[in-house]
Amino acid sequence: MDLAGKNVVYLGGFGGIGQKCVQELLQRQLKALAIFDLDANEKLLAEWKSQHPDTDIFYQKLDITQKSDIDAAYKATAERFGHFDVVVNGSGLMNDRLVELTIQVNLLGVVNSTLTALEHMDKAKGGKGGLIVNISSVAGLQPTAIMAIYSAAKTGVTTFTRAMANPFFYAHSGVGFITICPGFTNTGLLEDIANKTTFTYDNPMLAMFNRVKRQTAEDCARNLVSAIETSKNGAVLMLELGETTEVNMPDIWKPQLDN
Ligand SMILES: NC(=O)c1ccc[n+]([C@@H]2O[C@H](COP(=O)([O-])OP(=O)(O)OC[C@H]3O[C@@H](n4cnc5c(N)ncnc54)[C@H](O)[C@@H]3O)[C@@H](O)[C@H]2O)c1
Repeated sequence: MDLAGKNVVYLGGFGGIGQKCVQELLQRQLKALAIFDLDANEKLLAEWKSQHPDTDIFYQKLDITQKSDIDAAYKATAERFGHFDVVVNGSGLMNDRLVELTIQVNLLGVVNSTLTALEHMDKAKGGKGGLIVNISSVAGLQPTAIMAIYSAAKTGVTTFTRAMANPFFYAHSGVGFITICPGFTNTGLLEDIANKTTFTYDNPMLAMFNRVKRQTAEDCARNLVSAIETSKNGAVLMLELGETTEVNMPDIWKPQLDN
């Protein structure tokens, strides 16, 4: 997809990875960009608006745990932009001591945002099709015991997004889906990990966690925006240490059919 002239919605656009993705996206001469986030970063917003006067940059306050916020944000964006071509579900929270919130933000939020975005984008409902990018994690590719709840939520995101990419759905809606699985990336999300693990007791995974190599948010953002440009429906992409690898996830269960 050529991003020039496109309308993009980015959830979590003021976060560590989100900011860098927004900056990368704004270099593509977008027509419009909506940022949905818990709080505005007024300084960044003003900077982006003055640096990119030809892009309509719009902030919409949203708590992704609130379905009414999600509905209102997409409605306001559709009214302002007419349509949107790309949605990035990039909000997230890592704190296994907050079990419900971890599932609500990381999994339920992505599901609700995706289904609401589809209402506006689905060609069968008068939309123009497009691309939805859901940010999962390497913890959504394999069990990550130190963060069992986060890992479960992210595994849900990976599976949900792969299911949404079903070719039958794609033929119906014209909306493609990709799953992005970043490895450790230097942002606030990884801070204070000792107080965010699933269990309170010390374990060897904690010492290992602090030794895992991290990529920069800039490297992650560059590869995420390239993935949008490639727009391969159904791709599960691991973004690790500045490289992108497409992950092959074969079917394990093959249904046996009657007659
Ligand atoms: N940093 C990493 O190592 C890493 C690795 C893999 C995946 N990820 C994922 O990448 C995405 C971005 O993470 P990040 O590292 O930039 O973290 P971050 O903490 O810097 O940013 C998270 C963003 O989510 C938003 N958010 C949190 N709760 C919200 C809520 N209730 N409603 C609306 N927005 C909310 C925050 O305001 C912020 O903009 C997340 O989905 C995260 O799980 C991060």
